[in-house]
Amino acid sequence: MIKTLHVELNENSYPLFVGAGILNQIGEFLKSQAKSTKVFIVTDTFVKHQYAPLVLESLKDVGFDVAIIDVPVGEESKSLEQLSRVLDSLIDNQLDRGATLIALGGGVIGDLGGFAAAVYMRGIAYVQIPTTLQAQVDASVGGKTAINHPKGKNLIGAFHQPKLVLIDVNTLETLPQRDIQSGLIEVIKIGVIRDEPLFEMVEENLSAILNLETETLIEMIACACANKAEIVAKDEKESGLRMVLNYGHTFGHALEALTHYKKYRHGEAVSIGMNCAAKLAVNLGMFSETDFERQRALLNRAKLPLTFPYYISPEALCGAMSLDKKTLSGRLRLILPTRIGEVVIRDDVTDTKIIEAISQCY
Ligand SMILES: NC(=O)c1ccc[n+]([C@@H]2O[C@H](COP(=O)([O-])OP(=O)(O)OC[C@H]3O[C@@H](n4cnc5c(N)ncnc54)[C@H](O)[C@@H]3O)[C@@H](O)[C@H]2O)c1
Ligand SMILES: [Zn+2]
Repeated sequence: MIKTLHVELNENSYPLFVGAGILNQIGEFLKSQAKSTKVFIVTDTFVKHQYAPLVLESLKDVGFDVAIIDVPVGEESKSLEQLSRVLDSLIDNQLDRGATLIALGGGVIGDLGGFAAAVYMRGIAYVQIPTTLQAQVDASVGGKTAINHPKGKNLIGAFHQPKLVLIDVNTLETLPQRDIQSGLIEVIKIGVIRDEPLFEMVEENLSAILNLETETLIEMIACACANKAEIVAKDEKESGLRMVLNYGHTFGHALEALTHYKKYRHGEAVSIGMNCAAKLAVNLGMFSETDFERQRALLNRAKLPLTFPYYISPEALCGAMSLDKKTLSGRLRLILPTRIGEVVIRDDVTDTKIIEAISQCY
């Protein structure tokens, strides 16, 4: 079974395919789209070893001329140094303006490869083949690409939409369970912000999801991507509506920064953040105890963490939150739930209320 979505962004629209065992169809999918036979794959050393052979064979079978570069695994590769290596290699391989770059890997590769495609010759076509759940349900839709600067994450980047996204759920079989759980948080998040049936689907099928049952994964991933595509279609350059995707993230980013991006996976920090945002909403009288408990129970069953570590104080967290998300108006804007399936943006929550909610989440 292959599910096909169309991410509708006027002249930047693109198809997104979700299926099982479809990596070897990339050649066929790309054939009708590509403007030249030149293809360049960006991947990391692990994914190269695991999945590049299938992709290479499929592309060569239909006549593409393919070059490949791999970067070390991990966040450190979202750097100017690795970007420079990729660009050098694009030039050395004489990639023309009609060439296609394929980002094959997790979110790091999607961001690095996507940004290289955005700047090389003022922008060439690129395709995403995300191989982590995080990248499949989140980074594959939205067109955000970036590398990091020593002063902060994603400080150098561009909006650049892919021409095609291919998601093969079979790639998740080699992913550690901790990364599956962590990626799942973005799906649960979408359920809370706008899709109660998706939240319920995860509740009812959690073990099938964690056991990587393909039909369930395909349905869930397609649904998460469709939701994100709808949000992005209404707000491609992130001026307002898209902010709802930050549910749990203001708390989560602060926690990630204070623990130097080492202790928690992104999704784990967001899980703690969602639990705290929900607690704050309860305290403000806008979210019911029942819904708070429903979200808490699902995160708990998904083996995601719910509480802050004792050595980080509520005051430090609250301070880091303001640094992370200071907006033009200087006000912290929080995404808070009103029920499972609906959130509002609030910019009038006092630090005292924020600190109180954090204190209740240890
Ligand atoms: N552009 C966006 O919209 C967006 C959205 C969310 C996250 N991101 C970015 O994504 C990054 C995090 O993504 P990630 O969690 O995918 O990290 P990642 O790309 O570093 O992948 C995590 C690890 O999994 C390995 N891996 C990849 N596929 C695998 C597979 N199928 N089996 C086994 N191992 C596999 C990688 O080699 C790596 O070691 C962050 O840099 C974040 O900023 C971007
Ligand atoms: Zn996230």
